[in-house]
Amino acid sequence: MDKIVFTVNGDEYTLSGSEVSPETTLNEFLRDHLHLFGTKAMCHEGGCGACVVAVAHTHPVSKEKEIFSVNSCLVHVLSCHQWEITTIEGLGNRRVGYHPLQARLAAFNGTQCGYCSPGWVMGMYSLYERAGRKLSAAEVERSFGGHVCRCTGYRPILDAFKSFAGDADPGLAARAARAPGLPDVEDLSRGCAPGDWCVIGAGAAAAAAAGVVALRGDRHRWYKAYTVKDVFTILAREGTSDCMLVAGNTGKGVFWTGAARVQVDIASVEELRECRRDANLCLGAAASLTEMMDQCKKWQTDSDFRYLEEFHQHLDLVAHVSVRNIGTIGGNLAMKNKHPEFPSDVFLLLDTVQATITVVNSLLEKKELSPADFLLEDLTGKLISKVELPPLGADNLVRTYKVMARAQNAVAVVNAGFLFRVDGAGEVRAATLAFGNICAGLQRARRAEEALRGRRLCADDALQAALRALAAELAPARGRLRVSDANLGPQVRLDVTVQRQRRGLDVRHELAGSFNMGAQYHYSLETQSCHCEPTERGLRLRSATQWPDRVQQAVAGVLRLRAADVQVETRHVGGAYGGKASRSALAACACALAAARLGRPARLALPLRDGLRALGKRGEFEATYSLGADAAGRLQRLDVEYYCDCGCSFNESPVGAVKMIVVLRSLYASDTFQLKGYSVRTDKPSNTWCRAPGTAEGTALMEHIMERIALATGRDPFEVRLANLAPAHDDMRDVVAAFRRDCDFDRRLLAVDRFNADNAWRKRALKATLMWYPVDAAGPFNVVVAAYHGDGSVALAHAGIEMGQGINTKAAQVCAHELGVPLDTVSVRGTDTFTSPNAMVTSGSSTSETVAFATMQACKELKRRLDPFRKDGMTWKCVVKEAYKAGVDLQASYTTHPSVDKLKPYSVYGACCLEVELDVLTGQHVVRRADIFEDTGFSLNPDIDVGQVEGAFVMGLGLWTSEHLVHEPASGRLLTDSSWLYKPPGAQDIPRDLRVAFRRNSRNAAGVLGSKATGEPALVLAVAVALALHHTILEARKEFGYVDDEWLHIQSPYTLETILNAISPKTEYFKLK
Ligand SMILES: Cc1cc2nc3c(=O)[nH]c(=O)nc-3n(C[C@H](O)[C@H](O)[C@H](O)COP(=O)(O)OP(=O)(O)OC[C@H]3O[C@@H](n4cnc5c(N)ncnc54)[C@H](O)[C@@H]3O)c2cc1C
Ligand code: FES
Ligand code: FES
Repeated sequence: MDKIVFTVNGDEYTLSGSEVSPETTLNEFLRDHLHLFGTKAMCHEGGCGACVVAVAHTHPVSKEKEIFSVNSCLVHVLSCHQWEITTIEGLGNRRVGYHPLQARLAAFNGTQCGYCSPGWVMGMYSLYERAGRKLSAAEVERSFGGHVCRCTGYRPILDAFKSFAGDADPGLAARAARAPGLPDVEDLSRGCAPGDWCVIGAGAAAAAAAGVVALRGDRHRWYKAYTVKDVFTILAREGTSDCMLVAGNTGKGVFWTGAARVQVDIASVEELRECRRDANLCLGAAASLTEMMDQCKKWQTDSDFRYLEEFHQHLDLVAHVSVRNIGTIGGNLAMKNKHPEFPSDVFLLLDTVQATITVVNSLLEKKELSPADFLLEDLTGKLISKVELPPLGADNLVRTYKVMARAQNAVAVVNAGFLFRVDGAGEVRAATLAFGNICAGLQRARRAEEALRGRRLCADDALQAALRALAAELAPARGRLRVSDANLGPQVRLDVTVQRQRRGLDVRHELAGSFNMGAQYHYSLETQSCHCEPTERGLRLRSATQWPDRVQQAVAGVLRLRAADVQVETRHVGGAYGGKASRSALAACACALAAARLGRPARLALPLRDGLRALGKRGEFEATYSLGADAAGRLQRLDVEYYCDCGCSFNESPVGAVKMIVVLRSLYASDTFQLKGYSVRTDKPSNTWCRAPGTAEGTALMEHIMERIALATGRDPFEVRLANLAPAHDDMRDVVAAFRRDCDFDRRLLAVDRFNADNAWRKRALKATLMWYPVDAAGPFNVVVAAYHGDGSVALAHAGIEMGQGINTKAAQVCAHELGVPLDTVSVRGTDTFTSPNAMVTSGSSTSETVAFATMQACKELKRRLDPFRKDGMTWKCVVKEAYKAGVDLQASYTTHPSVDKLKPYSVYGACCLEVELDVLTGQHVVRRADIFEDTGFSLNPDIDVGQVEGAFVMGLGLWTSEHLVHEPASGRLLTDSSWLYKPPGAQDIPRDLRVAFRRNSRNAAGVLGSKATGEPALVLAVAVALALHHTILEARKEFGYVDDEWLHIQSPYTLETILNAISPKTEYFKLK
């Protein structure tokens, strides 16, 4: 057979191999060949979930049809033989109506920029259909580790999906029932229901009977084998050099060196997929990790296989659902064989129970290997055929661990598996201690295993003996390369100096120290991208930018064109957070250069890795300070020198930015402050703005200082803050009192103290932060409103960029309100540099309001023209028609500029109280609860504003915890340059209990319709997590005998390595009880 066949949304496609390159993924095929752009792509590594689609396929062994999700960026398109693929277009759309999952996600505000949404919907769709539409809320919660959303903060997405669960919280179910215009859940059958999947050709059995599929491209060969014998026949014919077996192809997401000349697809080899139980549990090497989990679940009640429950839990932490659905046991093991440094969890589990791994050679000879021997085996020209898990009686105890940077979908920082054979007296007869990622070469801690033999397992002397032996075994690992951030000859520029106006004399406490905030990558789901086509006079660009005007100027400058001949259009942007303010111009210029040179359209979508390596981020911030405070904690003087890492150029330095210095000097009385702000040039890429630039650093530093004073003076942290409050913010006193009451601060603080006294290896902390966030209007921004005489519909174009913050919704609301028409009369169009020339960048949270203001003015003008035609009882449509007949211009526009319209700056108050629990032994933490209070004025759309607050806050949590950018010291090269290594928070990292409250009866006199900005402020409050973790570290250190008289400086972000280093555990203090 020389072709493959598959369907996409019911349409059949055949490929002979020559149509695609050796590397073409299903994602590229969907987007570039079929032009199904609903399926997105971001990381191309299985790390973000933007590309997830649903697949139905007949299982080679059970012959039953099963439905599962896959990351289309990992799957090779030629692997899709006999697959029935459903993409988001196959579920529903505006034309045919939305699928209930899509509709509910929207109704629950689970979508902001929308770029991640198709992936989430397809993930949920596959999960729901696979489970026969019977899911529990807990299953839903755990199943989305492979999906990143940078906008929403996850809660609304999870709520939307959990509302489909059989045990959905009654509140969610009621909300789902109330959601307007939702299709009936019966409509879930649209798309395909489990029984409906159409069968392609004659099915899998017939395909296998037809024999090997052989496809030929220009430079490559692709084979699909159905038997082990087939595999070796192909290898004999093609040779083993530049030849690769392909099972799930998910290894591409971890180690990718390009496609081989010959690829042999083994996913449908029946012998390799078989799982059965005899004396052992035999799992075919091509069984997926999902199947391995299913087998663990199936046999864990068997008395000889109780340990499989532990395995199941561990496997649930391996990758995520879509990778596990097609990623195989054999693929994982082969990766470990080739890259011993890969901290494979699958290998670790097999090593723990001393499973047998069977390898077959070209003569079909089988070799049974122990895990240790397997690592030494040369796999060239061989096939891993199966693994066998041994029965372990009740005298065996198995425990496995995985410590990772975030709750799900992260490589193990350390993983471990322990097996103890214990006799009736509780003494260890034999022990297996397997480790991953401790140091190259150490898989088993044999000395520690020996040290445990003959000792009572649950006794302190056994623990101490094992720890001593482990320390000796790990000693060689201590010399392992540690990396730190690049610092290759910085250049320093003094940007800001503030002289103190007075010096207080009542100094009781003198403190000095330093404080830092790490860098952060924007990690927008849509990477930098641009499409450019030559026009008669110049170029037309569709750019994913926050600033079309900047793109226009940059492209015109690079290509020496007139600005008027460069048209830039932007419909909406898949997340930006400042990363597409100026940096999108770089991508646009590269794309425009190619289009201009070649005279034909060009498209550029910068891969995540290139973006991470080459483009700027939020720069690091470091401050040193000294201060004097009185007995009440009131600052008598504060001297600060702070430094911002600008990367290789000084542009966009937050030091120079007004907001930073304003924030440092605002909420707290600052007449005793002496400040010096420096911009530092380093060898990193030029840094740029990132959500809440300057304000994040300024607020964090001041909140840190307040916390330090509270600790030094032994005063209540709220009281210290209030003692330092600037008189201009007296308003905050009531806010703080109410907030303290509402979040039950005092009672919970006592409970935290009690918990810490009762628990040695888990520590809690409760910390609060306050915020004063300045918002300045910027401009110019223009708005054009047009009414159409045919049906009275209204179109609106504005100069702001919709990137998930809901600017289009707010503009439409204001327009409908001002014109007195229903909201659905108004459509909002994209932006372009012709209708909205010379516009300012959409950033700083204030654009929505500025555009809303301009919309009001434009609508007022349109109304003024229509008013003469209004008569009692006349519909809007008739008024428009009459005006049209009279020759009235039905298009009005308005350009606003703060200096023309006297738009006033204003501020946003906020407070946060956050409770964290630290696992002292692993350094991992959970945020148990976070209360956020924000003064949003009279919110134009509370649903949007809650989403903005939560999204910003969760991004802030990432900034202070898991998002760590690590550079190689010698070269400055970024080492954490992939979704595998750089970890923004996932769905399970958000606060377990997140409560957002807006100030009641608030109206912002300086804002549009009384509203306030919400996009950025909540991010700055998230420093509470760093303060809380700092406190848990101090509590933990007490357990190891440390007496911390001095403040402990801890370098942020609070990754688990940082936390454990700061705790510096002393092994002799480890006790079992
Ligand atoms: C986002 C992401 C997160 C991940 N997280 C984890 C994690 O937390 N823990 C962990 O352990 N792993 C993790 N992985 C790795 C994952 O488990 C492996 O990618 C997967 O198991 C590989 O299986 P595959 O079938 O896709 O292999 P493929 O990609 O098809 O193949 C990988 C290699 O194995 C070879 N190979 C495949 N099958 C065989 C066979 N039967 N005999 C001989 N050689 C074979 C191939 O030739 C290739 O060289 C993650 C992967 C991704 C993409
Ligand atoms: S693009 Fe496929 S997971 Fe990110
Ligand atoms: S809505 Fe999820 S990334 Fe924007």
